[in-house]
Amino acid sequence: MSTIAILGPGAIGCAVGAALVQAAHHSVLFCANSPFDRLHIIIPGHPSIDRPADVHTSPTSLSPVDWLLVCVKAQQVPATEPWLRALVAPHTRVAMLQNGVEHFDPITTLIGDPTRILPVVVQIPAQRTAPGAVTLSGTPYLVVPDNPLGHSLQTLFADSLIPIQTTPDFPTRMWEKLCLNAVNGAITAITERDQSVLRQPEVAELARQIVLECMAVGRAEGATFDDQLPARIVANLAGAPGTPGGGNSMLYDRLAGRELEAEARNGVIPRLGAKHGIPTPINAAFYALLKNLTPRPTTS
Ligand SMILES: NC(=O)c1ccc[n+]([C@@H]2O[C@H](COP(=O)([O-])OP(=O)(O)OC[C@H]3O[C@@H](n4cnc5c(N)ncnc54)[C@H](OP(=O)(O)O)[C@@H]3O)[C@@H](O)[C@H]2O)c1
Repeated sequence: MSTIAILGPGAIGCAVGAALVQAAHHSVLFCANSPFDRLHIIIPGHPSIDRPADVHTSPTSLSPVDWLLVCVKAQQVPATEPWLRALVAPHTRVAMLQNGVEHFDPITTLIGDPTRILPVVVQIPAQRTAPGAVTLSGTPYLVVPDNPLGHSLQTLFADSLIPIQTTPDFPTRMWEKLCLNAVNGAITAITERDQSVLRQPEVAELARQIVLECMAVGRAEGATFDDQLPARIVANLAGAPGTPGGGNSMLYDRLAGRELEAEARNGVIPRLGAKHGIPTPINAAFYALLKNLTPRPTTS
């Protein structure tokens, strides 16, 4: 049995935590800002998970764990330092379940040893509806590097509802996800419309340009893409005419009045682009707009 802490039990933290609680091999605790005492997870094609949860809102009295799964938004990582001080010892492995391509920053500064940090690409479309309550809208899985730490996470999730895929080319998987996230979050958060807005030809073209810039920077950083990626992303996001449009975590954050993950999903592209001399004006423009949207009232 492993001891596991889920740091940031929002949409993703509750989904992965519930899968581990249900698999029942482990002792799982949740480190939260907002308290709750039950997990309620709705998963398409599966019975819902409804279980009590061991939730803490302060690190006082907590001891180091075997695995820490960091599930906060990228910009929230620095503020988790008090939790890290309580939960991380030299034997603790730390999985970063985050969008973006900078999983090691700034957690490495806080923990000090990058060899214990596992970057994870999260493929779990999920929306938090209340503290502890999450609705998934697709099949969940996680992607990790094909290395001993990745295999160890695979063992942790054995017999759970969430499969762990390993890949020998993690940078490509990470950048492919960024190509998607750079488009879906920015366009839906700014228009405050679901992804069906990409059915408009002028929005689809803008989306394609966002992906092309991201691919150029990703290639300079070592990722490999096929040239059909922009068309595939736009078609998948737009969906078929007449079907409901999908959402994403940045749209949900915008509608709920929460801070946006703009730096990790768009700001990073001009920042790394400048390092390689690659112009990325469209992502720079979206980043500037996302950072300066009028605040909305917070709903959760
Ligand atoms: N949701 C999706 O569909 C999806 C899919 C793929 C990838 N991702 C990525 O997965 C990551 C997590 O996203 P998410 O959608 O799960 O975000 P989320 O629903 O906002 O969850 C983040 C959670 O962390 C909590 N938190 C923040 N700071 C904390 C702190 N200092 N101590 C304890 N708890 C803290 C928040 O609590 P409060 O809100 O109560 O403050 C919230 O419950 C992001 O990088 C996101 O881009 C999300």
